[in-house]
Amino acid sequence: MTTQKATNVTWHEGHVDRADRNKLLGQSGATIWFTGLPSSGKSTIAFTLEHALVERGHLAYVLDGDNIRHGLNKNLGFSPEDRNENIRRLGEVAKLFADAGVLVCTSFISPYRQDRDRARQIHADAGLPFIEVFVKASVELCETRDPKGLYKKARAGELKEFTGVSAPYEEPLNPELVLDSGELSPQQATEIVLLYLATKGLLAAKG
Ligand code: ADX
Repeated sequence: MTTQKATNVTWHEGHVDRADRNKLLGQSGATIWFTGLPSSGKSTIAFTLEHALVERGHLAYVLDGDNIRHGLNKNLGFSPEDRNENIRRLGEVAKLFADAGVLVCTSFISPYRQDRDRARQIHADAGLPFIEVFVKASVELCETRDPKGLYKKARAGELKEFTGVSAPYEEPLNPELVLDSGELSPQQATEIVLLYLATKGLLAAKG
């Protein structure tokens, strides 16, 4: 658990609450947390979902591992400690977006169960939905896709601590959804998530 360094800091309540923001946006926020091996299809599905949600009139936003590592988390690598910090920050950022009323679609390998569970807990503490979606695909399948050529580099010993080859991936034990990306197209996977969101009342107009 990360302890707080700063002392003499006080929480300041605003004058606008979550219900006000939900009314303004006509929706309530939630985090849809995609996890899975590199090249499992997380980002493709997350961006397809974002597009589908926006087309249906919902404010959605993707937080993507590769993208976030160009900015906010550019000082982090792939050691267990750095991945831990990566996911800690992103759990917090996703919570803030969801609190703002956004349907957040995250795409991080997030290989450690404990880190994902912490992100879930942060949301639970804030009373915000957290939907863990396991994008399931075997290492063999991901390796045949390998659009960035990273499995190839890892097998050649040119890339250390690569998830699925030389670093672990801990599968979710109780995800809200499992999407088999070997069987489903990104569109079909997206439909399943949309249906789930609808059954949870997250696509109903709020106001
Ligand atoms: S996580 O493990 O900390 O959740 P994250 O999702 O942010 O990872 O970033 C993963 C992306 O970084 C991959 O999609 C891949 O393009 C790139 N990458 C570069 N090096 C590695 C590595 N050693 N292991 C996994 N992904 C890597």
